Amino acid sequence: MSVRVSLFVLLVPFVLLGVTKICDAGLLSKNFYKKSCSQAENLVRDITWSKAQTDSTLGAKLLRVHYHDCFVKVSPRFSQGCDASILLDTVGTNQSEKDARPNLSLLGFEIIDDIKSQIEKVCPGVVSCADILALAARDSVSFPFKKPMWDVLTGRRDGRISLASDANGNLPSPFSDFNTLKQLFARKNLTVNDLVALSGAHTIGVAHCGAFSRRLFNFTGKGDTDPSINATYAESLKKQCPNPANPATTVEMDPQSSLSFDTQYFTTLNQNKGLFQSDAALLTDRVSATIVKQLQVPKDFFSEFGKSMKKMGAMEVLTGNAGEIRKNCRIVN
Ligand code: HEM
Ligand SMILES: *[C@@H]1O[C@H](CO)[C@@H](O)[C@H](O)[C@H]1NC(C)=O
Ligand SMILES: *[C@@H]1O[C@H](CO)[C@@H](O)[C@H](O)[C@H]1NC(C)=O
Ligand SMILES: *[C@@H]1O[C@H](CO)[C@@H](O)[C@H](O)[C@H]1NC(C)=O
Ligand SMILES: *[C@@H]1O[C@H](CO)[C@@H](O)[C@H](O)[C@H]1NC(C)=O
Ligand SMILES: *[C@@H]1O[C@H](CO)[C@@H](O)[C@H](O)[C@H]1NC(C)=O
Repeated sequence: MSVRVSLFVLLVPFVLLGVTKICDAGLLSKNFYKKSCSQAENLVRDITWSKAQTDSTLGAKLLRVHYHDCFVKVSPRFSQGCDASILLDTVGTNQSEKDARPNLSLLGFEIIDDIKSQIEKVCPGVVSCADILALAARDSVSFPFKKPMWDVLTGRRDGRISLASDANGNLPSPFSDFNTLKQLFARKNLTVNDLVALSGAHTIGVAHCGAFSRRLFNFTGKGDTDPSINATYAESLKKQCPNPANPATTVEMDPQSSLSFDTQYFTTLNQNKGLFQSDAALLTDRVSATIVKQLQVPKDFFSEFGKSMKKMGAMEVLTGNAGEIRKNCRIVN
C-alpha cells in the first residue's frame, strides 16, 4: 500500500506536466481490487466458469481477444496495450478494431458485457474492462483445471480510442517468417522465448482455411505445396479445406486436441504439423527450435506460458489516472 502511495506521489508532477504516458508495468499489482471491490476476481471466475461449462471453445475465444487487445497499439502518441480498446464498438464513421476484420472471428464479447454488468451492480465504476478481459481469458482457459493456470496482475484502466487502421501493422500474420515474428515481438519487448511460449496458445482453438490454404495449394504461385509441411497432414488439410476455400470452414489448429490446453501443439509442431507458416517458422531458427522441444514438457510449458502471459498482459497498460473505468465495455464514457 505504502509503495503504491509513494509511487503515486512521485507520478503526480508528471501528470501535472501533462505527461500522459503512464505505462510502467510495475504499477499493476496482485489483487488490485482487494479493498475497492473484493468480490471482483471471484465474480469474474464464477461467471466465466459457468459459461465455460456450456461452451468449451470460450477459452480460445477470450485468450485471442486478450492477445489482440494487448498487441494493437493505436497511435505512437498514446501508450495503449491491454486497454480493452478491442471491445469498443464502431462509433459513427470511426471503424473500431473489433469491426475492422470480421473474419477474425473474435467472439466472446457478450460474456465480457455480462461480467461487467454484474460487477457494476456491486461496485459501480471501479473495475476496468481491460482487467475483466485479462481475468476472464485466464479463467476460461483454466476452467478444466479448476485452478488459475497463471497469475493475472490487475489495475489496468480502459483506453478511450479505438481505430481500426492501426490494427494490422502491429499484429503478426499467419504468413510471417521467423524474423518478422521475432521483430514484431521485440517491438513489444517480448523475447524469442515469449514468442514460442505464447504461440503455444494455438494448442486450443480453430482457424479459417484462408489463413493457411496458400501453403497447401499455391505456396510459391506454381500450384505447389509448402515442402516444410508434413505430407500426411497436408493431405488431411486439403480434404478439410478444398481449393478455393469456403470462407466459413474452420479446422482445429491442434489436430484432435484443440479443446485441451496442453503441450500437444509443440509435439505436433515438431512433426512438421504446425498449421500456419508462422507456426512452422518457429522450427526455422536454431534457438527457437530448441525452445519448441523444451516446451513439450508440460511443467515447462505451463510455467513459461504463465510468465509470458504476465509480460504480455502488462504491455503498455494504462494505470493510475490514465484512461478511465468504462461503464459499458463497448463505449467510452
Ligand atoms: C505468433 C504470432 C501469431 C499469429 C501469426 C497468429 C495468428 C492466428 C490466426 C491467423 C488465427 C486463426 C484466426 C481465424 O482464422 O479465425 C489464430 C487463432 C488463435 N490464436 Fe493466434 N496468432 C499468433 C499468436 C497468438 C498468441 C500470442 C495468442 C495468445 C496468447 C494466440 C491465441 C490464439 C487463439 C486462442 C486462437 C484460436 C481462436 C478461436 O478458436 O476462436 N495467438 N491465430
Ligand atoms: C473519430 O476519431 C477521431 C480521431 O481519433 C476523433 O477525433 C473523433 O472524435 C472520433 N469520432 C467519433 C464519432 O468517435
Ligand atoms: C519496452 O521497453 C522500453 C524501455 O524500457 C520502454 O520504453 C517501452 O515502452 C517498452 N515497450 C513496451 C511495448 O512495453
Ligand atoms: C480475411 O479477409 C480478407 C479480405 O476480406 C482476406 O484478404 C484475408 O485473407 C482473410 N484472412 C483470413 C485469415 O481468412
Ligand atoms: C497461384 O498463384 C499465382 C501467383 O500469385 C496466381 O497467378 C494464380 O492464379 C494462383 N492460382 C490459384 C489456383 O490460386
Ligand atoms: C508426419 O506425420 C505422420 C503421421 O501423423 C508421422 O507418422 C510422421 O512421423 C510425420 N513425419 C515427419 C517428417 O515429421
